[in-house]
Amino acid sequence: MSHRATEPDISADFDTVTGTIDRNIYGHFAEHLGGCIYGGIWAEPGTELPTLRDMRMDVLELVRALRPPNIRWPGGCFSEYYHWEDGIGPVESRPWRFDWKWKKPEPNVVGTHEFVDFCAEVGAEPVVAVNVRTGTPKEAAAWVRYCNSPRTTPDGARRAANGDPEPFAVKLWDVGNESWDLGAEESAQRFLAYCEAMKEADPEAKLVAVGSSGWKEEWNRTMLQVAGEKLDYIAPHHYDGWRGRDLAKGEGHYYANVASACRIEDTMRRTAELLDEMLPHRPEVGVSLDEWGVWTEHKQGLQHNYDLSDGLVAASAFNGMHRLSHRVTMANWAQLVNCLGMIQTDATRVCVTPVYLAFRLYSKHCGGERVESSVRCDSFDVPEDIRSGLTGLPYLDISATRTPDGNRCALAVVNRHLTDDIETTLALTGVPDAATVTVHEMNAPECFSLNTLDAPDTVTIREQQLYAVPATYRFPAHSLTVVVMSTA
Ligand code: AHR
Repeated sequence: MSHRATEPDISADFDTVTGTIDRNIYGHFAEHLGGCIYGGIWAEPGTELPTLRDMRMDVLELVRALRPPNIRWPGGCFSEYYHWEDGIGPVESRPWRFDWKWKKPEPNVVGTHEFVDFCAEVGAEPVVAVNVRTGTPKEAAAWVRYCNSPRTTPDGARRAANGDPEPFAVKLWDVGNESWDLGAEESAQRFLAYCEAMKEADPEAKLVAVGSSGWKEEWNRTMLQVAGEKLDYIAPHHYDGWRGRDLAKGEGHYYANVASACRIEDTMRRTAELLDEMLPHRPEVGVSLDEWGVWTEHKQGLQHNYDLSDGLVAASAFNGMHRLSHRVTMANWAQLVNCLGMIQTDATRVCVTPVYLAFRLYSKHCGGERVESSVRCDSFDVPEDIRSGLTGLPYLDISATRTPDGNRCALAVVNRHLTDDIETTLALTGVPDAATVTVHEMNAPECFSLNTLDAPDTVTIREQQLYAVPATYRFPAHSLTVVVMSTA
């Protein structure tokens, strides 16, 4: 069902700043799972592809283009059984282990040094997840010292002997992962024990505590009651998405999928509100949505492709993060390559998904500061018999941002309408004089179009230069448009 408003209009005043956006929301996640690490970021042994210290150059370049602020590693669930000392020292001496979570062998060819090297190559900060399930606070603290101590200390000297004299300066640490089965009280107590040991190893370490799956008030309340004075972030996970992709069964399937972003935003909003309620004296504590995404299939190795509608979910979720920027300060899409990956590879080829394209547009052009903006347009309901509780959602979902110097302004608009372009009045003020106006549009022939290794260019970004800041614009059906007005 569709609700009619008046003529659609969007306004944004780029002189009125309403918040700061932390770049860490455009973060990523790479787990030892499926084809993410081995055969994804790192090349298969014997490959003839160009590599850099065994990393695939084609993947490396695509990741660099995302300007990733951070990458979370080594899991996920993998981290719950990982012992970091297995992954240091000469590669030929590292032990093979069995990964009890994902039921596969782990060769430990990629360990801390390799991961930090990858992060440095793509310009990202490492986010390292310590093992709280089968590890100990002592083991986690030793990892912190190994990474961050100067080479004049025993731990730093050990790192130096393994090839890296300079400290890795890992500041962001996840304390545990999805320990929901342990209960919130036990997880919070473990957080405190790890926190004490890890902060002794490096008082500057920033620690992320396990949050709920989606929104679960009781879990988050307990975690904040017990550990709220010590944690730096609380990290809910939210996977969403609607599996039905058959328009012959009705347009409701498309709307059910794009509305996933509203559910993701709801999790973030409620977690942010709980922080405001329980930790008003600690405004620096953030929500880190450290696993999020669209997950609708369970194939081998969690190999997963994304279509245009999934890219629109990612874009709308970013608009939501911008709206909640006072508390949502980090997020990691699950995941980077192949396994739930926004980048897809086989032995010789690579292609990017619409989720990748949305990330590239937001990470490159949006963020910095949020400015005053509003939108008026028609809205839609997801049919109750398909997915309930998703009503009155505006077709146009927007955010307006600028760089702190005001020299680059960006308006991001997702038109979620399945069939209709939406002609919109635009009142954009505070744009610097003589700004160059470029429109970047992600779209494709169909809402469920996707890119594959055989047909990699079905969903694309089209760029167009305008002569002036537009007073009206026609936003195409099922598209993301980012209007960039820049003097740089
Ligand atoms: O991202 C895949 C898996 O999903 C992660 O290992 C786990 O944390 C989550 O359940």
